[in-house]
Amino acid sequence: SRVLKPVATVAVQNGAKNFSTSSELKMKVMVAGASGGIGQPLSLLLKQNPLISQLALYDIAPVTPGVAVDLSHMDTPAKVLGYKGPEELACAVADSHVIVVPAGVPRKPGMTRDDLFNVNASIVRDLAECVAKNAPKAIMCIITNPVNSMVPIASEVLKKNGVYDPNRVLGVTTLDVVRACSFIGTINGVDPRCVTIPVIGGHSGVTIIPVLSQANPAPKLTDQSKIEALTKRIQEAGTEVVKAKAGGGSATLSMAWAGARIANAVLRGLKGEENVVECAYVKSDLTEAKYFANPLCFGKNGVAKNLGYGKLNAYEQQLLKAAIPELKKNIETGEKFVSK
Ligand code: NAI
Repeated sequence: SRVLKPVATVAVQNGAKNFSTSSELKMKVMVAGASGGIGQPLSLLLKQNPLISQLALYDIAPVTPGVAVDLSHMDTPAKVLGYKGPEELACAVADSHVIVVPAGVPRKPGMTRDDLFNVNASIVRDLAECVAKNAPKAIMCIITNPVNSMVPIASEVLKKNGVYDPNRVLGVTTLDVVRACSFIGTINGVDPRCVTIPVIGGHSGVTIIPVLSQANPAPKLTDQSKIEALTKRIQEAGTEVVKAKAGGGSATLSMAWAGARIANAVLRGLKGEENVVECAYVKSDLTEAKYFANPLCFGKNGVAKNLGYGKLNAYEQQLLKAAIPELKKNIETGEKFVSK
């Protein structure tokens, strides 16, 4: 019979450096919506993650098995399998540690994220139903818009199935953080990878609150009007992309980058690494909104600690005040969809 060599040995023979050992390679990550604008580059990035041993690509698109074969030829350890259509969904989901969800329709110019609700709500509901039955311990990272409503939908479905754990359902707001870091990096003339900033609230318009007063380094902006303009740009950055793509969709490549980053944080936490911090939108009792995004520490069971949002200045408090009613409305829309 064929004896498989430990990955580490193969890596050394290939002359690869900093390669993970086989003992570290145990995680199964499933991508739902893997053939889409976000799904494909996200899967490309995940295939390079040494913490992932299995990558299950699921989509309803006919190209999905081909996307999987294509990625499987990359010489990285993660094993890639493709699953197409609802009849293969349960297999794709089964035993997953992390499920990343960019399944659904994106915005076209003139549309808000809420305009996507009707189509995307049933997609997320059906996926959550399958997760509840086949991988109830998986950590769901929901990219599908409107994120503010999709997380309550998935949570309510898991609750109905008796398997809800609020520490395992995340709305992905990482792109807002990535954008804020990128813009501040440019303003300050520094490497954006050195910038840190919490972006709190939710993931649409006024619910996106970049806490610029806590950015490190502080943005080199002289007056309040510039701070407000930067805040607005971060809030509307998604629309900037939608307009620039002129009907060709919304952010996909930067979103893939952000999705790979949050998935990596979740995986590092699951592996037992300490002090892994990222912002995400989760069940929360910090404000009147039942779900809220802010810095979280990840651990072996998903969210290990909610780190709160620290001190806000007067302007940021005003932003928070404007965000809460909108968040509450979005959350209620999601919850109502499941209860009807
Ligand atoms: P896309 O249309 O390029 O890809 C979506 C994919 O989902 C397609 O391959 C489609 O076949 C698939 N799909 C549709 N129904 C499905 C189902 N029932 N099960 C599995 N797969 C299904 O769209 P794109 O650009 O990749 O965007 C996906 C979603 O991500 C959109 O809702 C978009 O608004 C959202 N998004 C979220 C961001 C965030 O920061 N959270 C940023 C950018 C986009």
